[in-house]
Amino acid sequence: MHGTSLLDRLAGQLTRLCAVVDADPAVPRQLVADLLGPAATRPVDQPPAWPSDVADDHTPVEYSVAFNEAEPPTLRILAEAQAATGDLAAHAQAAYRFLDRQVDRFDLATSRFDAVREVFDTDRPRGAFALWYSLVFRSGRRPELKVYFNPAVRGEEHRATLVVEALRKLGLDAAYPMMVDGGLRPGELGRRDQLTFFALDLHDGDQSRVKLYVSQYDATVDDAVRAASVVDDIDPDQVADFCTTAAGGPGPYERRPLVSSYTFTTGATQPVGYSLYVPIRDYVDDDVQARDRVRELLDRYGLDASRLDPAIEAVTDRPLADGVGLIAHVSLRVGRPRPGITVYLSAEAHQVAAPRPGRDRTPMNAGSM
Ligand code: TRP
Repeated sequence: MHGTSLLDRLAGQLTRLCAVVDADPAVPRQLVADLLGPAATRPVDQPPAWPSDVADDHTPVEYSVAFNEAEPPTLRILAEAQAATGDLAAHAQAAYRFLDRQVDRFDLATSRFDAVREVFDTDRPRGAFALWYSLVFRSGRRPELKVYFNPAVRGEEHRATLVVEALRKLGLDAAYPMMVDGGLRPGELGRRDQLTFFALDLHDGDQSRVKLYVSQYDATVDDAVRAASVVDDIDPDQVADFCTTAAGGPGPYERRPLVSSYTFTTGATQPVGYSLYVPIRDYVDDDVQARDRVRELLDRYGLDASRLDPAIEAVTDRPLADGVGLIAHVSLRVGRPRPGITVYLSAEAHQVAAPRPGRDRTPMNAGSM
C-alpha cells in the first residue's frame, strides 16, 4: 500500500459505498477530489497537512449512511475543503470558493446562505473549523448540499450571539428561547451545553432546513430526553432506549459529548425535527461492539439492516476487533423530514485507533493480520 494517495484511498471507498447504496460514483468522486484540492496527492502513510476535525485521524472526509423508514439508504459525506497552505483562514477561503464552483452546476439555492454569511464569515476565523459541507446522494437524484457554520468562529464567548443573529436573519428567532429554556439544562448554556454547529440546506422547497446543534458534556440519558421534549410528537422512551443502547448505559457520558440537533423549516416557530448523535466510539471497546449495537438498533426500529455490513466492508477490510472509531457516531432522527438512523463511518485513511483494553481479545479472535 506504500505510496497510496489520499484521493486513491477515498475514491476506492466511495466507489464501493456507492455500489452498496445504488448510487453513481462519478459525481461523488469528482466532488471529493474538488474538496481535497492539494491534499488529494498526500500519501496516506504520512500525517495530514491540516488537522481537520471532521474525523479523529484528521482525514477531512467522513461517510455516513442514513437508514430510512420509507426509502433506501442514502450515502452522505461530511467534508472540509482543503487549502494549499496551513491555517484556518486559508481553509475557510477554500471552502467558500468550493461553493462558488458548485452553485450553477447543481442549481443550489443560496439565499439563506447569503443572508447569514456575514454573521460567520470573518478574515480571522477561530476555533476548530470555519465551514464544512455535507453532500447527500440519493439514488437517481442530483446531490444535495448542506453547509455547516461554526458558532465559535469569532471566539468561544460569541457562540450564542452568532446563533441568535443568524436565526434572526432567517426569521427563526422565536425558536431560540424555547429551545434553550425547554431543552437544555438550566444554567448550562455556554458551560456544559455548547452551540456547536449551525447548518443550512443549499436547496429550496418545503423540505429545506436550518439545523442547530448543541453538544452536551457530561450528559445523561435524561438530558437527551429533555432536549428532545421540545419537539412535538416525540416518544421519550424511544429516545431513551436509543441513547442507552448506543452508549451502553444511562450515563453520565464523560467522554465525547452527546449532540442534539433541532430542525427548523422556513416560517416555523417551533422545531419540526430532532436528532440525537451518540459518539458511540467512546463508549465501546472496539468496532465489533459498535457494529453489534448498531445492528441491534436498526433491527429494533424496523429498519432494513442488510446493507450495514456491506457499507462497513466498503470502507475497511481490517478486522473490526482491531480498532475502535470506524463507527464514530450513530444518530436517531425523529420527526421531519425523515425518521431513521444514521451510521457515521470514518475513512481511517491515515490512522486506525487501537481498541480499548479489557475485552476478551485472544490472538485467535483478534484476527490480527
Ligand atoms: N469529528 C467531530 C466530532 O466527533 C465532528 C463530527 C463529525 C461530528 N461527524 C459528526 C459531530 C457527527 C457530531 C455528529 O465531534
